[in-house]
Amino acid sequence: MTPDTSAIMEAYRSAGQAQVFAFYDRLSPEARRRLVSEAAEVDLGEVDRLVRTLVRSAGAHSLDLEGLVPAPYERLPSSGGDASAWARARAVGEEALRSGRVAAFTVAGGQGTRLGYDEPKGTYPVTPVRHHCLFQVFAEKLLAAGNRYGKPLHWFIMTSHQNHAATEAFFLEHRCFGLDPSRVHFFRQGRMPAVDFSGKILLESQGSLALSPDGHGGSLRALARSGALDLMASEGIDTLSYFQVDNPLVRCIDASFIGWHLARGSEMSSKTVPKAYPEEKLGHFCIQRGKLVVIEYSDLPVDLQRERDPVSGALRYEAGSIAIHVIDREFVRRMAEGPGGLPFHRADKKIATVDAAGADVKPSKANGVKFELFVFDALPFARNPVVVETARADDFSPVKNADGVDSPATCRADQLRQFARWLRASGVGVATDPSGKPNFSLEVSPLFGYDDETFKESWSRLAPKPEVVDGLYLGNTLK
Ligand code: UD1
Repeated sequence: MTPDTSAIMEAYRSAGQAQVFAFYDRLSPEARRRLVSEAAEVDLGEVDRLVRTLVRSAGAHSLDLEGLVPAPYERLPSSGGDASAWARARAVGEEALRSGRVAAFTVAGGQGTRLGYDEPKGTYPVTPVRHHCLFQVFAEKLLAAGNRYGKPLHWFIMTSHQNHAATEAFFLEHRCFGLDPSRVHFFRQGRMPAVDFSGKILLESQGSLALSPDGHGGSLRALARSGALDLMASEGIDTLSYFQVDNPLVRCIDASFIGWHLARGSEMSSKTVPKAYPEEKLGHFCIQRGKLVVIEYSDLPVDLQRERDPVSGALRYEAGSIAIHVIDREFVRRMAEGPGGLPFHRADKKIATVDAAGADVKPSKANGVKFELFVFDALPFARNPVVVETARADDFSPVKNADGVDSPATCRADQLRQFARWLRASGVGVATDPSGKPNFSLEVSPLFGYDDETFKESWSRLAPKPEVVDGLYLGNTLK
């Protein structure tokens, strides 16, 4: 046993976590090394603090709702916002993009459990005709934005231990979908151990800890730890356009949104859509004690979610969080390296483990706690945070569930509606149902058009115009 190993075992013993090494003597030398290296990854002081505050103390995780009010937000011109302020914001954002200050950032570490998909979620095929995957959709949007503003973008992608190698291999196989590989950067998020209800760290097997990703909020510390922030600084990048891997509709690069963020001197900004219905599973933008906060759908009492404005009839807590942000680089560093940092959340889960004899246990009900960080918990720490409205149809249709809401089927339908809208805005007749969905399949690559305006430009230049029929694919014809 190396001195390091005995020091680690001793640290676990004195933290009351000696059970982690209960089967050490039975393991092969290789398995022992793996267990010790996993054990060394855990911050025992942090686990002890979380056990005391979130696991042992009863009711400690019930949410404080005192003084909560809905957050104000910048409305789109189409819903009463100031069109000239939007135009100014766009100009500021475009200037930032032309000067190369902006990078894209995707959190792709989650597991597609609800979708029932075992590969990295970004590899999931989503487009209606070519079945391009989420990563390809984003890559093409970034290529298009780079072309438009004359500065190719850097793209930072956060993976997890579980999907890191597979994600990198996928990009390699697909030649980064045409992006310059030196501008695509992968880094792994951190892991946290799961504990049982008495605070003991759980083993997943005799020779490994029950470790899981530390939540998308872990992205802030992973950006710092991986050296990504330093790389950005050396490339002159100070602004990150953040989005989740599950949403192919997202405008990965949105000049107006970036402009609102920069013009307001904000350290972290967010997009919002009015909630479609009270129980929609979106976080809510609220103000509490003068700070912007997001209250999760699972935490805001249903009666508050249903409250309506007596005059307009709109939901009071209508500003839904669609997990799209612009974040300042040095704010990330402060959150990651400064004192305090993001709070952990507790999630009670069924966690595969071993019993005292070392036999596998597959629990049928929650047997332990996982700890996760949420990126939106950084908002109350940000200077001048701004919330900006966006049109759902042009920014948000996530793929989360195998069927029902937010599924591949709803996302496909939303893409078809968007493509049909663009065609119509360019003067092309398209037969649709009353919801705007065409009754045939078509697809527009972001390299052809990624909004009304860019679509119209490409369409007007296209000669001869293709017939708008089932299976139409408008790709990068302008190369
Ligand atoms: C999330 C938000 C919710 C928001 C909704 C919009 C939380 C807790 N809630 O809900 O406020 O309205 O999206 O779609 O986030 N991820 C990682 N590492 C992790 C965990 C997640 O990279 O450790 C990534 C996933 O790959 C995914 C994203 O974060 O891209 C969202 O995670 P998910 O757990 O699916 O969040 P939701 O519950 O859908």
